[in-house]
Amino acid sequence: MKMKIDEELCTGHGRCAHYAPKVFRLDEDGYNADRGSTIAVPEGEEKLALMGMKSCPERAITQVDD
Ligand code: F3S
Repeated sequence: MKMKIDEELCTGHGRCAHYAPKVFRLDEDGYNADRGSTIAVPEGEEKLALMGMKSCPERAITQVDD
């Protein structure tokens, strides 16, 4: 499973990392550290990754094809 974090849409709510700390990392300003990139979700973290994705009020995270 892969997820893309939109660089423009992330405004630093931090909910993604709250739900899925092993998937989403925040930078020192509280933004998703991987914004502008596509990340691979670690094995076994898919469910939490989806929760984190859905928790983002800006819909900055989308699931993309492997
Ligand atoms: Fe950014 Fe949404 Fe997470 S705004 S820090 S991707 S909850």
